[in-house]
Amino acid sequence: MSKEWTPNSWRDLKALQMPKYPDAQALKAVEQRLERFPPLVFAGEARKLKRSLAKVAKGEAFLLQGGDCAESFAEFNANNIRDTFRVLLQMAVVLTYGAACPVVKVGRMAGQFAKPRSDDNETINGVTLPAYRGDIVNGIEFDEKSRIPDPERMVQGYNQSASTLNLLRAFAQGGYADLQKVQQWNLGFVANSQSGDRYQDMCQRLSETLDFMAACGLTSETTPQIRETDFFTSHEALLLNYEEAMTRVDSISGKWYDTSTHMLWVGDRTRQLDGAHIQYLKGIENPVGSKIGPTITPDDLLRLIDALNPKNEPGRLTLITRMGADGLAKALPGLIRAVEREGKSVIWACDPMHANTVKSSNGYKTRHFDAILAEVRGFFEVHKAEGSHAGGVHFEMTGQDVTECVGGSQDITEDNLSDRYHTHCDPRLNAEQSLELAFLLAEQLKDDRAKIRESANGND
Ligand code: PEP
Ligand code: CO
Repeated sequence: MSKEWTPNSWRDLKALQMPKYPDAQALKAVEQRLERFPPLVFAGEARKLKRSLAKVAKGEAFLLQGGDCAESFAEFNANNIRDTFRVLLQMAVVLTYGAACPVVKVGRMAGQFAKPRSDDNETINGVTLPAYRGDIVNGIEFDEKSRIPDPERMVQGYNQSASTLNLLRAFAQGGYADLQKVQQWNLGFVANSQSGDRYQDMCQRLSETLDFMAACGLTSETTPQIRETDFFTSHEALLLNYEEAMTRVDSISGKWYDTSTHMLWVGDRTRQLDGAHIQYLKGIENPVGSKIGPTITPDDLLRLIDALNPKNEPGRLTLITRMGADGLAKALPGLIRAVEREGKSVIWACDPMHANTVKSSNGYKTRHFDAILAEVRGFFEVHKAEGSHAGGVHFEMTGQDVTECVGGSQDITEDNLSDRYHTHCDPRLNAEQSLELAFLLAEQLKDDRAKIRESANGND
């Protein structure tokens, strides 16, 4: 951390992708109100996540990060939160059971509101308005009033994050996530699918294991690891006015934490080393991530690592590649080698979504399930070849039965996209596609773990 770091030192630097609020006084008033609001997470929880991520960095666990591209005010309800949480949990069980690997669960939830956009403006039928930048900034409706950035939306974002977190904590710790109930998690529309059948089969085997453990005296009453789970939250650190207002000194460690969420990442478009977003992330103690695209060079990457993790602390930094299968095959080996050569501790995670966004012939922003799978497979292959740990994945998904990505075993076609296309930004995997992906991941990870064990035995 540079000496002059303060929660507002980003303000002296160039800040890309930030809204221009027309009323500076109204903005200031909202920031001052937010500064007095209670923290949404404790520093101790962020430290716990960092310890879990340190295990991922050392190759002993796997990171599963996922949720909405953009949470919205309109679709905020308990069922949506529960369904996304449940699918993440189901994916985690598939991975934990299928690959015998601990899984660190992090939602893109309870604060994932602000969006970077490729264009500052949007034009429809000859009318040009400022682009929609996420519900915490402006409204998605295409009219002049909605598109004006409104600071009051930060208060609504805070309140929605607080209620979402409250429910997530209740689900994670209050009995819903109990492994003995894993079979009762309603599969909804996934029940009659190939992934649903595979999931039920796995639950059957898991139940037998749990029965055996119960016979040995390990039940959900005696064992918190069976009864409850750790579930963390994350979002992109984009709207720095909001993040600054939520930054507090932890009374135990005396260090700065962003108390709006457990983990934050910087987007591929805002990770300039001399820019505002990197400056802000440098000074907080939370675990952080950075997206990296296919054009980053090994030297750039090493500079980024030094900026965000100068103490080389395991669990502090997650590098989230978003390159497309081809870009990844070309760029990733060199990046891994540079990181290994310099002895840097990082987590490698794969976002197979953001380099695979295309326009369908009928005008929808979509992603092909096969392209997503190809990038994930490529990620594991490169890590296998380099002898490094494929540490995690980062997805845009939802528990709802949406039709936003084409393909998967339901075989969603371009013509189906209009049926249930609800995203406020990028196309998400639905519950069925997410589970299908989890099974593929479990196979890859199991393979990976077997190789690690083999080489450990060989070295004995
Ligand atoms: C995102 O994660 O929604 C996003 C905008 O990603 P990226 O910064 O990789 O484009
Ligand atoms: Co997105």
